[in-house]
Amino acid sequence: MKVVRTCAEMIEISKFYIKQNLRLGFAPTMGCLHDGHLSLLEHLNRRCDARVASIFVNPKQFCPGEDFERYPRDEERDLKLLKKNCDYVFIPYEKEMYPKGFSTSVEVSGLSDTLCGKKRMGHFKGVTTVVARLFGIVRPTFAAFGQKDYQQFVIIKKMTQDLSFGIQLIMCPTVREKDGLAMSSRNMYLSSEERARALSLRKALLTAKKEIEIGQTKAENLKKTMLKVMNNLGAKAEYAEIVDTENLQTVDPIHGEVLLAVAAYVGKTRLIDNEILRCKEL
Ligand code: PAJ
Repeated sequence: MKVVRTCAEMIEISKFYIKQNLRLGFAPTMGCLHDGHLSLLEHLNRRCDARVASIFVNPKQFCPGEDFERYPRDEERDLKLLKKNCDYVFIPYEKEMYPKGFSTSVEVSGLSDTLCGKKRMGHFKGVTTVVARLFGIVRPTFAAFGQKDYQQFVIIKKMTQDLSFGIQLIMCPTVREKDGLAMSSRNMYLSSEERARALSLRKALLTAKKEIEIGQTKAENLKKTMLKVMNNLGAKAEYAEIVDTENLQTVDPIHGEVLLAVAAYVGKTRLIDNEILRCKEL
C-alpha cells in the first residue's frame, strides 16, 4: 500500500491506470476508520484492478459550531487498518485541496434541502465540492459510498450524472455493531451510558418497520411513532421522515420503495440512521 500526499502524484497514478485501461476503485473517507469504511473497499475489490482510499477531514462540509476541530483523527491507526485493504491511500494537504484562490463550489439543488440538509445548511454543498474535486484527481472507474449516509449517496449520484463524470457509483449496505448500532466515526464521542441510548435510532426504525408490516400506511403516524421511540429512549430527535428513495420527497400514504430516515442527538453527538423498505404500490 502506497501513501500518496500530493495531488500531482495521485493524478500520475490515475493516468497510469487509465492508459492501461485498468479499473481504479475509490472510497473517499474522513478517516477514523471502522468496518463500515473497510466494507467499501471490499465491495470495490470485486470490481477493480486497484483501490484508492482517501482520508481528508473536509472543512467545507462542517457547519459553524459543528465538530470540525475535534473530529477524531488518527492517521497511524487508519494506515494500519487500510494496509491489507487497498493499494493507495490519498491523504491530501488542505492547502492543496483548497489552494489560495480556490473559488468553485458544486451544489445539487432540491435533494440537498431536505432531511439532514434542513438543519445542516451548506453541508451537502461542502460534500459535493470535495467529492467533485477528489473525483477530478483520482478519476476512478468505480466509487463506493455507504447507505448509512443515504442522502449523501443520492446527491453524489445526481452530481455524477448531471456533470457526466462517467464514474459508476456503488452503494454499500450499512455495517452495524452486534447490537444494531450503525457504525460511525462519531460513535467515539459517546459515553457508555450514551452508547446505550444511541440504540434508540435503530429501535425507532424497526418499530416503524413492524407497524408497516402489519398494515400501517400513514406516514404521519409512522413519523410520530419514530419520534416518540427516540425521545422516550433518551435521544433528542431532530427528524423522522419517510421519503421516496429517488427524489427524497415525503410519501404519504407510503407506497413503492421508501426510505425511513432518522436523525437525533444523544448528548452532544448527532447520529443518523435509515432503512429502505419495499411497500405495496397504491
Ligand atoms: P465518512 O463519514 O468518513 O464516511 C466515508 C464513507 O463511509 C461514506 O461513503 C459513508 O457513507 C461510509 N460509511 C460510514 N459509516 C458506514 C457504515 N456503518 N456502513 C457502511 N458505510 C459507512 O461520508 C463522508 O466521510 C464524507 O462526507 C465524504 C464522502 C468522505 C466527503 O468528505
